[in-house]
Amino acid sequence: MPGAFVPKPVVLHTADRMREFVRDWRVSQQGIALVPTMGNLHEGHLSLARLARAEADRVVATIFVNPTQFGASEDFASYPRTLDADLELLAAAGTVDAVFVPDDREIYPYGAREAVRVSMPALSRELCGASRPGHFDGVASVVCRLLNIVTPDVLVLGLKDYQQLIIVKRMVADLGIGVRVVSGPTMRDTDGLAISSRNRYLTDDERDRAPLLHAALERVAAAICDGDGNFGALQQAAADELRAAGFVPDYVEVRCAADLAKPNGRQPPDELIVLAAARLGNARLIDNLGLSATDAANRHATDAANRGATAKP
Ligand code: PAF
Repeated sequence: MPGAFVPKPVVLHTADRMREFVRDWRVSQQGIALVPTMGNLHEGHLSLARLARAEADRVVATIFVNPTQFGASEDFASYPRTLDADLELLAAAGTVDAVFVPDDREIYPYGAREAVRVSMPALSRELCGASRPGHFDGVASVVCRLLNIVTPDVLVLGLKDYQQLIIVKRMVADLGIGVRVVSGPTMRDTDGLAISSRNRYLTDDERDRAPLLHAALERVAAAICDGDGNFGALQQAAADELRAAGFVPDYVEVRCAADLAKPNGRQPPDELIVLAAARLGNARLIDNLGLSATDAANRHATDAANRGATAKP
């Protein structure tokens, strides 16, 4: 039953065991929600697991640091792997029935290099895809594999990785995968910084400056809501502001929220979203802000819910 407390999730390591496990739920016609993660869980993931619990009878979380979505110079080797702490968090939260923790061979039986890949269209090479070539093909490939193994009815993803969300939705629609994609709001620290596993790469000084990314997005969003339609100038001003504070921005862009297309100037503000990615020291931070009334309401609700929330160290 959606919402029931589950004290200790069952941990499964092989695709065969995972398939067997969900088969019983399927036979008894229970709905299944999947929350894919790369571990190093924090409040953002836990909020997605709570959402999953409200959406389905059974919840499966996956913990897999997916090699195919990291570039050669990225942090795959050093990505924080904190399985014991993650399992404790999930047990305490009581929202997840099973945790699938496969190794590389379970997900990529022929090896990651020889794997069949999902190749996503142009959007995957824009925004974050421009500075992370192949990243979204890797994300789509692993999500496709996880969907094949867990066969959920509902896939839960965070709004924080907005481009990922739109790309996965596109894959699901284009490949005709029978899963409903549901998204949960970004969890923030009290100063506005979006909670992320990569915040741990920030020094104390960088952590103090990091909320400026969110503040820059707020300013762009507010200007658009006040009728400023010169997106180019707003983007440039925000990027300059970030640069002045020591960030190295990859992009600040206003896009259409529905599909991340470039706006043609005819969209009303509530169909737009502002997205940014910037490096600060060793961390690459991403964030976004939807301009719709619902997003604004979500933001306020999230701010209220997050009061007192803190990122994992
Ligand atoms: O958002 C993430 O943590 C990852 O990109 C995902 C969706 C788990 C795929 O590896």
